[in-house]
Amino acid sequence: MAVDLLLGLQWGDEGKGKIVDVLTKDYDIIARFQGGPNAGHTLEFDGIKHVLHTIPSGIFHEDAINLVGNGVVIDPVIFKRELNNLEQYNIDFKEKLLISRKAHLILPTHRLLDAASEASKGKAKIGSTLKGIGPTYMDKTGRNGIRVGDLELDDWKERYNSLRDKHLAMIDFYNAEIEYDLTELEVEFFKSVETLKTLTFIDSEEYLHQAQRTGKTILAEGAQGSLLDIDFGTYPYVTSSTTTAAGACTGLGVAPTKIKEVFGIFKAYTTRVGSGPFPTELFDEAGEIMGRVGNEFGATTGRPHRCGWLDLVALKYAVHVNGVTQLMMMKGDVLSGFDTLKVCTAYKYKGERIEHFPYNIEAENVEPVYTEMKGWKADLTKMTKESELPQEMLDYIHFLEKELEVPIKIVSVGPDRKQTILR
Ligand code: GDP
Ligand code: IMO
Ligand code: MG
Repeated sequence: MAVDLLLGLQWGDEGKGKIVDVLTKDYDIIARFQGGPNAGHTLEFDGIKHVLHTIPSGIFHEDAINLVGNGVVIDPVIFKRELNNLEQYNIDFKEKLLISRKAHLILPTHRLLDAASEASKGKAKIGSTLKGIGPTYMDKTGRNGIRVGDLELDDWKERYNSLRDKHLAMIDFYNAEIEYDLTELEVEFFKSVETLKTLTFIDSEEYLHQAQRTGKTILAEGAQGSLLDIDFGTYPYVTSSTTTAAGACTGLGVAPTKIKEVFGIFKAYTTRVGSGPFPTELFDEAGEIMGRVGNEFGATTGRPHRCGWLDLVALKYAVHVNGVTQLMMMKGDVLSGFDTLKVCTAYKYKGERIEHFPYNIEAENVEPVYTEMKGWKADLTKMTKESELPQEMLDYIHFLEKELEVPIKIVSVGPDRKQTILR
């Protein structure tokens, strides 16, 4: 059986958690392949909102196995908190939540290093979630990291101590003013490691290989978004993992020939949290309305999102890099009420019109060129069928499909599982 992927096409928070939850009924296994607790994936059903950081978004479905793949970085402390939050739902974590032995661990000092690095950057800071993501992936590629499988070895605490001491020297080097109580952090960390050890650690690439052989269906769940990809994002204002389709191959051990559908998910407008260029960002009332109506605050850090019009230049780029086969448009309901909508269809780049996503999209180089479309006024949040959608919204959808050359198969009109229109 083939593996399907679901990825964010913008700067994250597109609604991946919601859609993975909606699609899980069609899959046997949901597998996260990259990122860590910098992610915040929101699911809403039966009037309750859940935010997941490391645990895949299929966890509420009784029949689905949820797998944390080798490409993910796990903070045992945050992981334990996530498990505690789910205590009341009687989920059999030992059976349903499997962890790759090859996933790397975020140590308390990785978090401190993240803070020290950001503090040392001053105005040029990335706007990291400060979850230790960058330093953990640096140790992974630097071949110093500690993996989940190491927790089964006798000498892991010695390796922990030596990596921690190295980190402490690096923190001194940054000379940044950060305060911490390492003893307290370590007590919490070691306690959380014991909780993590109650779960099932597996050789996940072999597990997935066998699952494919026996006809199981697998959905790979991405975190962050394509414009935060370490290679293809707006570097250096990116995260430290491969958020694009190829990341599912390295982050799970799935061959490229086994990937079938690539679901690309985007908001009907654009948001970004943290620093970095954002050509269609709005600083006026329209942006303020998107933020307010869309409740644009980060699920992980609570920070307000920067908002702007849909950027088709960036979206096309993401569609190409990922080989998207089906699109999903989220939060169309948030755009209800605008007389006119703008869509960026080209950039004025150093004085010339271009239609591709260039090396540098800093504001001094790039000015968006907009196409205007008629807005819609109807309340979409109770609609369940495409035929109920206002004509102006259908025009918007058809325009995007023509530009992107990929069909939009799902239109989301609210945060709840049920507020999802299949086309
Ligand atoms: P993720 O990181 O991609 O999973 O997305 P987040 O959960 O961080 O952010 C998406 C936010 O939008 C969450 O608060 C969702 O509940 C909410 N949401 C998802 N889809 C829709 C939608 O169609 N309309 C509205 N109004 N909210 C939505
Ligand atoms: P989900 O999966 C939105 C952003 C941070 C920062 C940059 C680097 O919920 O869509 P990091 O902590 O990785 O060092 O931060 O990336 N960022 C996200 N923005 N959604 C996310 O995840 C994000 N994860 C990281 O704000 O700008
Ligand atoms: Mg999020």
